[in-house]
Amino acid sequence: MTIGEVLRLASEHLAKTSETARVDAELLLANALGRSRIELYTDFDRPLDESELGAYRSLVARRARREPVPYILGEWGFRRLTLSVDARALIPRPETEIVVERCLERLRGVDRPVALDVGTGTGAIALALADEHAGVRVTAIDFSADALQLARENVERSGLEVQLLEHDLRDGLPGGPYDLVVSNPPYVEPADLDGLMPDVREYEPHVALVGVGATEAVARAARDVLRPEGWLVLEVGDGQASQTLELLEALGYAEGTITRDLTGRERVVEARR
Ligand SMILES: C[S@@+](CC[C@H](N)C(=O)[O-])C[C@H]1O[C@@H](n2cnc3c(N)ncnc32)[C@H](O)[C@@H]1O
Repeated sequence: MTIGEVLRLASEHLAKTSETARVDAELLLANALGRSRIELYTDFDRPLDESELGAYRSLVARRARREPVPYILGEWGFRRLTLSVDARALIPRPETEIVVERCLERLRGVDRPVALDVGTGTGAIALALADEHAGVRVTAIDFSADALQLARENVERSGLEVQLLEHDLRDGLPGGPYDLVVSNPPYVEPADLDGLMPDVREYEPHVALVGVGATEAVARAARDVLRPEGWLVLEVGDGQASQTLELLEALGYAEGTITRDLTGRERVVEARR
């Protein structure tokens, strides 16, 4: 079978369980062959040998069991970085890239700012800030030792500087004063867990998804560690933006704004201390 035929068959098979079947099939084949996705297209008529087919079959079988593609590949792109990803932490999402964009906007022009990333997971937000704002000093916390170990691997992989701390946000936030506190806290209600796609529910860490009161806890604690006029930037679940903005106003934050993600959903709330 050629690359073109194999891709067609795998896409048909994956379409039963994935909305992104064709892209999944291409990413997995590129990985199995050690090529880029674009190279598959320039080599459409090349036949695959048995060992290549065997390797690809096992990757497709994992995806057919709903394992997320980033976990199968072991790495995933986030802004300008390629991060190691696995079941120890949440897969960084496109909407979180917008969180980083808002942070960079708030830090623009600030010389050697100090920032805190609360619930860092893979380290995605903290590392992207370190990568994209020269001179920023970033601390990142998480209460999951597993997630922090993965974040440590990503710090090493990227060659960027981020200070990692094992810390529970319910105990308040460490250090400061900060120019910026950013968080993508767990915001799925326990009752909504069953409604999540199996790809998410069965593979990603529940401590990264489900959190009762985590957003409020970050917002309350951030007041104690932000510099006067420092910014709090929060990712929120779909439908949670206006109530979060009201919460921030009630806590004394000012200049609250909401930013939509690329699909038009209100997903980022920020305000000044
Ligand atoms: C939604 S994930 C975000 C991961 C990463 N920042 C991102 O945007 O891809 C939430 C993270 O918060 C961490 N977390 C949950 N509860 C926490 C707590 N009480 N204290 C510290 N970290 C917590 C989880 O371990 C998880 O890594």
